[in-house]
Amino acid sequence: MSSISLSDRHQPFVDTRTGAGVLARITRMAVRYRARLLIGILGTVAAALSQLLIPRFMGQAVDGIHGLLQAATLWNPATRHGLLMVALGLLGASVGRGLFMALYMQQGEALGQRLAYSLRLAYYEKLQHLSFSYHDRVHTGDLMTRGMLDVEGVRMFVNFGLLRTFYLAVLIGFGTYQLVVTDPLMALVAVSFVPVVGWRAIVSRLQLRESWYQLQKRMSILTRVMDENLSGIRVVRAFTSQDHEMHKFDRASRRALLLARKRIRIRVQNTTVMTMTYYASMCLVLLVGGLKVMNGEATVGRLTEFLAFMTILQLPVRQLGMMVNAFARASSSGQRLFEVLDQEPDVADKPGAPALSLTRGELRFEDVSFAYRTDDGDSVALRGVSFAVGPGQTLGIVGPPGAGKSTIAHLVPRFYDVTGGRVSIDGQDIRDVTLDSLRNAVGVIQQDSYVFTSALERNVAYGDPWADRDRIARAASSAQLATWVRSLPLGYRTLVGERGVSLSGGQRQRLSIARSVMLRPPFMIFDDSTAAIDAGTEQRIRASLREVTRQCATIIIAHRLSSLMHADEILFLDQGQVVERGSHAQLLALGARYAALYELQARRTTAAADSEDAGHAPGNGAAADPPAAVPAAADTGVPFVEGAPGAEQVAANGGNGAAHGGNGAATTVGAAGGRS
Ligand SMILES: Nc1ncnc2c1ncn2[C@@H]1O[C@H](COP(=O)(O)OP(=O)(O)OP(=O)(O)O)[C@@H](O)[C@H]1O
Ligand SMILES: [Mg+2]
Repeated sequence: MSSISLSDRHQPFVDTRTGAGVLARITRMAVRYRARLLIGILGTVAAALSQLLIPRFMGQAVDGIHGLLQAATLWNPATRHGLLMVALGLLGASVGRGLFMALYMQQGEALGQRLAYSLRLAYYEKLQHLSFSYHDRVHTGDLMTRGMLDVEGVRMFVNFGLLRTFYLAVLIGFGTYQLVVTDPLMALVAVSFVPVVGWRAIVSRLQLRESWYQLQKRMSILTRVMDENLSGIRVVRAFTSQDHEMHKFDRASRRALLLARKRIRIRVQNTTVMTMTYYASMCLVLLVGGLKVMNGEATVGRLTEFLAFMTILQLPVRQLGMMVNAFARASSSGQRLFEVLDQEPDVADKPGAPALSLTRGELRFEDVSFAYRTDDGDSVALRGVSFAVGPGQTLGIVGPPGAGKSTIAHLVPRFYDVTGGRVSIDGQDIRDVTLDSLRNAVGVIQQDSYVFTSALERNVAYGDPWADRDRIARAASSAQLATWVRSLPLGYRTLVGERGVSLSGGQRQRLSIARSVMLRPPFMIFDDSTAAIDAGTEQRIRASLREVTRQCATIIIAHRLSSLMHADEILFLDQGQVVERGSHAQLLALGARYAALYELQARRTTAAADSEDAGHAPGNGAAADPPAAVPAAADTGVPFVEGAPGAEQVAANGGNGAAHGGNGAATTVGAAGGRS
């Protein structure tokens, strides 16, 4: 677990929309690692103080050598002793500075890494809980950039921003004090470059902050273009769109280049001004100091001390630009990170919500409406949908593409919350129970399921990593995957490639069925999950799932009517509304859209079977894999209703398929939707 509590977003007086607020928040996070921070600060202060001793010792050394060179004191043991002490002091200060500097760098780096680690975890944890509607709006590439580059920006700040500020403050503040006490006029000249550099630093900070923000955005776009290109590589190659894709990438890349150039210009200009100012004040010190030495008002040693002080300041002055950049980058990176970290998921547990309590196992949609939130406003996907499905019952949903079928599947596990009406399980509104308990009870086999780059068995046992091989094998066998797995040299240990590309569409769908079956949830939703599987295999899957889903409330969404015609109730959905409902037989008797679809699919089947007969004249008259939209009964000549050969055979031209509960009447539902 991360040690960064997200609750710190509610800290008063810190507005993370401003750069200062963001930096204050990062600093507050760093303060949590008190010991490291303290050691780091003490290290920087000690390093700066020992560094300040060096010019003093150098001045004394020069004066000492000058004294030694006077013939009168050449053999004076006191002078020689004094010089030896100065040399030892110089050595001690240099060694001390080196050691303290190492301590500060080490602690600063460790602290930065620690902070980055916690932030990365907190960020990743947040991503696990952000609602789907957020992911719909924000591109994956953008979220990935934030999780990687922006965390880096915050990490760098600790060392090159926060701790270095202490270092510079002591070096410049205490050093100036030392010089002023020694010689006010020369001190004034020596530090005259500081205000100019400070001013340039602030200006460049603001410019860099803005351009860094822009650059980050460009990099996100670049990542997105690359991500889409790689994800859609087959489409790109199939349509020979490489040139078009190159052009798209070039355009995004060129914008990033222009911004990078602008950033370089800002940095070069500022570094030049800062360095020139520095050398100009060094010349002035030489002039004023030289005159003083000539007038006998100062020793050569003192002039050396001032020059050495300026030399020591040279590097930090140059690094002031880097420090400013660290501030600018951290404030924009932090802002982008906090934007995500502070997101309140749209779908979350209510405070003190109880776990779902399953009594009967009945799922109800009560006048449910839903609209997706998009950048262009709300897009209505469901209007007044009502149904109920209990244990051992099956609900079928059919309808044209975009009708809202998958949306229904998304609402049950609360991927989204309804915008009207309610979804309940055993009388409990699903918004009132914990998400974990709800999602454990609902298995959704998605239209396009994801396959992780991992062993097959790990993919099947994704929801229960401790499942033993037997359970995995049983689940795989229910999904008709076992025969194929046995044919693989490594069996269940076979690695399935990046995004499962080494699997066919049908294998992927079966894997996804096996994954859900493993958990035996009381509610199962198959969202077009057998579209890529031939009707014969689908039939076998259904037969073997029958045992597993005997007590389940099952929803089957499909375009192929053979997949759902055995359902207790079938909804015909169009434009988010239920336009017809009833059993298969009732809907056929109604003679409306469902019947027309059935007619169409059956007719296609007959045509396909005819052409098969004509073309190949198979001895047994059975077609091989039928086209996707074909009822299995028709093309194989085998009854397609699971496990009951001959029980419900439907004629290929299907005017009056044998029916479920033939006495009920189907309903055509008006625009208002909902069955009484
Ligand atoms: N994440 C989303 N954001 C915005 N609109 C969406 C989103 N997902 C779906 N939609 C829109 O909602 C409507 C219903 O989509 P849905 O995916 O439920 O259709 P479907 O019936 O499952 O279609 P298909 O048969 O093609 O799978 C469509 O108009 C679709 O464009
Ligand atoms: Mg769909």
